Amino acid sequence: MKDVMILMGAGQIGMAIARRMGQGMKILVGDKNLKNAEAITKIMNEAGFDALPFETDLSSRKDIKATIAKAMEYGEIKMLVNAAGVSPSQASIETILKVDLYGTAVLLEEVGKVIAKGGVGVTISSQSGWRMPQLTAEQDRQLATTPTEELLDLEILKPENIKDTLHAYQMAKRCNEKRVMAESVKWGERGARINAVAPGIIVTPLALDEFKGPRGDFYKNMFAKCPAGRPGTADEVANVAELLMSDKGAFITGSTFLIDGGATSSYYYGPLQPQ
Ligand SMILES: NC(=O)c1ccc[n+]([C@@H]2O[C@H](COP(=O)([O-])OP(=O)(O)OC[C@H]3O[C@@H](n4cnc5c(N)ncnc54)[C@H](O)[C@@H]3O)[C@@H](O)[C@H]2O)c1
Repeated sequence: MKDVMILMGAGQIGMAIARRMGQGMKILVGDKNLKNAEAITKIMNEAGFDALPFETDLSSRKDIKATIAKAMEYGEIKMLVNAAGVSPSQASIETILKVDLYGTAVLLEEVGKVIAKGGVGVTISSQSGWRMPQLTAEQDRQLATTPTEELLDLEILKPENIKDTLHAYQMAKRCNEKRVMAESVKWGERGARINAVAPGIIVTPLALDEFKGPRGDFYKNMFAKCPAGRPGTADEVANVAELLMSDKGAFITGSTFLIDGGATSSYYYGPLQPQ
């Protein structure tokens, strides 16, 4: 038996984190698109890791439970990396809420029931949720603590209250960070930690779809005018995840870390301020 990592989402960010943290572990690479999981698994196994592809849909509790059951065939679950998701240019409002919001909430809940003592997790939210106006304290509480099966029935998530796919994505990512706070209390009871990383524009297939999509110019302007003056890389996101998941991060749980080249700062107080 080995310590097991569940990597949900066989994308660039997920792989970068798994490569940073997964040596010596069994890594179950879950993705809705099996081809992506197989591709990442091949790259990792050819680099000395022990990874296994697994077809699974983050938006399905049944699939999440099957992923956990599969992982536990190899040993205790010591790490969770959730880097699966769809972006505003890739999917409908309904799909974004089902995958990014509901699916993430269920994954944190289900893994939180079995995570090993000393276990750690990260989930990838987004800077996008940071440029939305504050929600009320009551709305934040609803996103943090509403039972997972009732989340999508919340008034603030009803289709008539979601403007467009970007708004859906922002609500999903805000919810991710609130769930991390609430879940960290439960994970803590098992001696485990869970945090979120909120990246800015990171060059991955997901971001490339955004550059080509209806908001392409908006995104290119965003990284050009942020203090860093460029988009980030998945390996830079892994630098933050490494801090959070290693012993150096032992006092960090229930937190979200923004890594966006300063784009959020520029949006509020610099050249990216909306006119
Ligand atoms: N790239 C960016 O600029 C950026 C910025 C902020 C946040 N993020 C977030 O980072 C995470 C990882 O994205 P990435 O940029 O590495 O993208 P990516 O396209 O490289 O990887 C995303 C993976 O998620 C998988 N996926 C999609 N829907 C799924 C589902 N229902 N079940 C299981 N797997 C599913 C895709 O098949 C894909 O392999 C996402 O949550 C995204 O919202 C990305």
